[in-house]
Amino acid sequence: MPKSTTVFVCQECGNESPKWQGRCICGAWNSYVEEKVTPASHQNSVKNTDKRNSSVVPLKDVSTSAKERIDTGISELNRVLGGGIVLGSLSLIAGEPGIGKSTLILQSALALTGREKTVLYVSGEESDTQIRLRADRLTEEIPDSLLMLSETNIENILEHSEKHKPELLIIDSIQTMFSDRLESASGSVSQVRACTGELMRLAKDYDIPVFIIAHVTKSGELAGPKIIEHLVDCVLQFTGDRMQDLRLLKSQKNRFGTTSEIGAFEMRDSGLAEIDNLSGVLLDNLNDPVEGQIATAVYEGTRPLLLEIQALTAAAAPGFGRRTAIGVESARLGMIIAVLERKARLDLSAKDVYVNVVGGIKTEGTSTDLAVALALWSSAKGIALPPRSLAVGEIGLTGELRTVRAMDKIVREADKLGFNKLFLPAQNLKNIKNPRDLDSLELRGFNDLISVLSDQSFS
Ligand code: TYD
Ligand code: MG
Repeated sequence: MPKSTTVFVCQECGNESPKWQGRCICGAWNSYVEEKVTPASHQNSVKNTDKRNSSVVPLKDVSTSAKERIDTGISELNRVLGGGIVLGSLSLIAGEPGIGKSTLILQSALALTGREKTVLYVSGEESDTQIRLRADRLTEEIPDSLLMLSETNIENILEHSEKHKPELLIIDSIQTMFSDRLESASGSVSQVRACTGELMRLAKDYDIPVFIIAHVTKSGELAGPKIIEHLVDCVLQFTGDRMQDLRLLKSQKNRFGTTSEIGAFEMRDSGLAEIDNLSGVLLDNLNDPVEGQIATAVYEGTRPLLLEIQALTAAAAPGFGRRTAIGVESARLGMIIAVLERKARLDLSAKDVYVNVVGGIKTEGTSTDLAVALALWSSAKGIALPPRSLAVGEIGLTGELRTVRAMDKIVREADKLGFNKLFLPAQNLKNIKNPRDLDSLELRGFNDLISVLSDQSFS
């Protein structure tokens, strides 16, 4: 073994320094950990053989045939991936411990092996017996082609994978894996980076898709290595409240599809069940008129998602009004409050303001603006909003209502779920096709926030 040196590596961003530092250039405090590394020349010599294989080709001669995709057997997972797993791709599935990552991947492995594909499940976290017990919970009969390997040494894993050539390789989890070439502990930035690099070479050389499970820290960041997000093709986040059953799968990065799809699951005794109608689950109690509560819609990926917004205003110590936004961007909340204060003469300066999206969903974009404004106004004025109604629209700085994309699909979904009223931008209303075909939904279009607030529905 060649002589090793030590470096200090920031566990947040991967920056290396010969000396310990209290604060990294990425802004993290106390994030430097001493790691032993073997000199780069040794690592390079191993890879030298790869270099000879590369060749320069004219761009127009590069094959454009789309890479084949494998159906994971779980349609919510397929959709978030952009239509299945791409051959030779590296996907990361990240989530807090206990959220159900192993369960999701094992379910997919069972579905794939049920169709006679070979899957190699490598676990560095749990014993074979534990995985077997989980599989027994999920299925009655475990297919022969689901192979299991309890191992943490990446070189051994590569050797087994090259021998068995599985059609899917699962690594549970990357933080438990280590490479012989480095002396640092498993889970450290250098190890995670090196192991991911090795898996990437395996994926590309043999066209084997690889699923890597990774834990995240409490704040939702990938534990340690941001660097591996750049290495992999897809980063999927598995989130939810462990005390509740709802689990959401979102893609944060996807080289083969959009990042706006959401997959929804319910954790049951027999594993994760797919939820087709997420909106129905998120909209519980909209039948009664309640102050500070209204439904809204966001358009995620290829389908509209209807959800509930709640707002509460409460007296605050003068000059100390707090603004708390959960699931809504706080900069947008600030803007909406400013428009309400200036245009609707609603004084919230001496109030604490809380806005919450029910179900722990984080919304992006602007389509929820109008619902947030109405919920705030309703809570501050003590006027309940009409039951089974929703509000969708962007609010501009002059209080004007601006159009939202895919309103047609939002309208159909709201009608299907039995909503009675939709408050929307007038410009959007003009472009709705066949509004007379709607069953229960009444469409009310407005040009600005003030005219919505003076609508007779609110008196
Ligand atoms: P697990 O997949 O081990 O989580 P992770 O790999 O993300 O750490 O799932 C952990 C939880 O899921 C555990 O608390 C038990 C629960 N669970 C069920 O409720 N039903 C099931 O069928 C399974 C397999 C797990
Ligand atoms: Mg696990």
